[in-house]
Amino acid sequence: PDTTLVDDVTARLRDVPDFPKPGIIFKDITPVLADPRLFGRVITAMSAPFRGQHITKVVGIEARGFLLGAPIALALHAGFVPARKPGKLPYRSVVERYSLEYGADGLELHEDALQQGERVLIVDDVLATGGTAEASSRLVKKLGGDLVGYSFLINLDFLGGAKRLGPDKVTSLLTF
Ligand code: PRP
Repeated sequence: PDTTLVDDVTARLRDVPDFPKPGIIFKDITPVLADPRLFGRVITAMSAPFRGQHITKVVGIEARGFLLGAPIALALHAGFVPARKPGKLPYRSVVERYSLEYGADGLELHEDALQQGERVLIVDDVLATGGTAEASSRLVKKLGGDLVGYSFLINLDFLGGAKRLGPDKVTSLLTF
């Protein structure tokens, strides 16, 4: 087991106050991504709970969920599916709306992104209120996918996201 990973990631995360709005402390993961060894250890650790669970698709949430979700998909020998903000996907799509810690938005999947019964892992950098991940789970269900779980780099647990999603399905590397 990678016993120093939590400390090593914590040391490299950058807290940016008042971004993107006053009062929000943004967790900047770019220093973690820029370190090839640390990035690799993060991908290994975020994939580990789902090895042997026959995940066939990883759904990565725009935008930082793409950066983590694509390598996790490769690590799990699964396909990658982007969940995008409205109007970004080129083909016919299904949409779900949600409210955010700072605003409201929506997410879309291509209508043929999942086959009935596919085993799906949802990936994002941060779990806050859980609105974004919950909208993603509704999209997965809409397309007949079987949601196996969620893998986050950071769980801001005081905002209640894991409770909202079902704590048994939520995994994260760091919890604040
Ligand atoms: C952030 C984060 C999650 C979401 C979590 O995304 O990357 O996707 O917020 O918030 P929630 O749990 O309260 O829904 P952001 O809105 O900053 O979008 P971006 O990744 O496209 O910048």
